[in-house]
Amino acid sequence: MGWKGEIEEEHEIIEKATKALLYSMAIKRLLGDPSLFQEVLPFYVDFYRNFVVRCHHKKEDLIAEEAKFGEVVDQHPALSKLAEDAFKREELLGDLVEAMLLHVKEERKRWLSKVDGDYSEILEEVEEEIGTDVHRRYVSLVQKLYGKVTEKYEVTDLLGGKPGEGRGVLITDKEPPAQRRVQISQGIWASVGD
Ligand SMILES: [Fe+2]
Ligand SMILES: [Fe+2]
Repeated sequence: MGWKGEIEEEHEIIEKATKALLYSMAIKRLLGDPSLFQEVLPFYVDFYRNFVVRCHHKKEDLIAEEAKFGEVVDQHPALSKLAEDAFKREELLGDLVEAMLLHVKEERKRWLSKVDGDYSEILEEVEEEIGTDVHRRYVSLVQKLYGKVTEKYEVTDLLGGKPGEGRGVLITDKEPPAQRRVQISQGIWASVGD
């Protein structure tokens, strides 16, 4: 797997961790069960600071610098600021979730697909700084937590898709007509399906 494959694998882990946070927030607010959120949030704070900022963003920043192409990647300082604010004020967490999911999508489309060259060495250097084991441990913890959230409750994720129906907790970016719904951020709602 080339360096782009590795960056993309990290994107998938970041999306998964962010979705675990989103789902657990929706479950807490819609169904009144805070236990998953209480477990996911402290993990996410640590994951964000270490895996996202110290590892993933650092790799991207160094690559962008060398490639002289920093589109989308230049959002990192603003994202970190939003994250640290949201870790202190829970009402901002929905905005962070929406911003992170959008950031990864945009990076895929407008940055990663347009950078040429081989930057495997940068990836190796940063990973050695963090420790390969540490990196691997985060990946497996994310898989485990995501599994735990989605095993306890049925979640139908309609983000980026058509308005639709489903079972369990519905996550959507189209304002749902349902009676029981909560707004997570400006563009994300959760409601209860059949
Ligand atoms: Fe990034
Ligand atoms: Fe990224």
